[in-house]
Amino acid sequence: MNILLTGGAGYIGSHTAVELINEGHEVIVVDNYSNSSPEIISRIGKVAGRLAAYDADAGDEEKMRQVFLKHKIDAVVHFAGYKAVAESVQQPLKYYENNLSSLIATLKTMKAFGVDTIIFSSSATVYGTSQTAPFDEGMGTGCTNPYGWTKLMCEQVLRDVAKAETGFTAVILRYFNPVGAHESGLLGEDPKGIPNNLMPYIQQVASGKLGKLSIFGNDYDTKDGTGIRDYIHVVDLAKGHVKALQYAQEHRGMEVFNLGTGKGYSVLEVVRAFERANGVEIPYQITARRKGDVAESYADVSKAQVVLGWKAGKTLEDMCRDAWNWQKQNPEGYKNSGRMQRQAKGL
Ligand code: UFG
Repeated sequence: MNILLTGGAGYIGSHTAVELINEGHEVIVVDNYSNSSPEIISRIGKVAGRLAAYDADAGDEEKMRQVFLKHKIDAVVHFAGYKAVAESVQQPLKYYENNLSSLIATLKTMKAFGVDTIIFSSSATVYGTSQTAPFDEGMGTGCTNPYGWTKLMCEQVLRDVAKAETGFTAVILRYFNPVGAHESGLLGEDPKGIPNNLMPYIQQVASGKLGKLSIFGNDYDTKDGTGIRDYIHVVDLAKGHVKALQYAQEHRGMEVFNLGTGKGYSVLEVVRAFERANGVEIPYQITARRKGDVAESYADVSKAQVVLGWKAGKTLEDMCRDAWNWQKQNPEGYKNSGRMQRQAKGL
């Protein structure tokens, strides 16, 4: 199939592109590189083989139309969107405008070209603070920040479109905490500035870029007092998209799936696992809780297992090893890689 990946140069998009190419699909990436880089396209090419890429914003209907004119698209995986929780609190309009308009422009273009299958990147953040883990897809939703609300609103848009259009398929994937990197060390997470998330922060402490990790609270009602999350290897997550596309070929309407491992690890367990897996020391201090954090978040993964036939296979040790391998090989992320060539085509 010809599969369009909006935001396909991002962290999850790039790993998914590799898995789709490995499965024999044609991959077409649309990315404005606002939080990524054209270098990633050549890295995907190195790991998996040929793909097409366009430097364009998924919210730009005219550019999307041109991409659909050039390629006969069979399905879309919509990754494009801003994702920094704290920034979304400071700049809510930026998030609502960008995240909603890119989905709407994508859906309008799909409709104009008769494309009826979309896989959407949602987040476990939609379970909010009032549910108790493990979270299952039937539970109520609610958010604590604008980023989360954009995910929930996009889910609603897709639910309504699936109701209105016969033959339309939307598969919503609620990601838990994606970490790790491609085992080649060529693809990984490359946050701008100081990382907000735990694993990239640990990686940069390990490399000496950052002095010590701040652990946000050790007074939660958890096994060791630190927050518990369901960390999932980004390659397992990427494979979940391949399964979701297979499912979408045979089903109509909208369906939601959690993508996690179903296992929760505390912040301290992740620190210890990283130290053990890589033979490095991660100095840390305990600081106050971070606003908006829940004590425990982990998935009930039975629906994805039964319906999609998908299960995460990699361990926390694999995640820590691959994350460190990527960090060591790319101390500045995709910058200064020596091959910053603009392979992506403009429109
Ligand atoms: N943490 C620290 N120190 C840090 C960073 C994080 O102690 O420097 C802790 C957090 O308090 C939390 C855990 O590590 O207990 C994981 O935090 P992350 O920031 O890595 O991940 P979150 O679970 O807060 O958020 C992530 C994504 C969101 C997404 C959410 C879904 O960043 O985009 O998962 O549950 F919405």
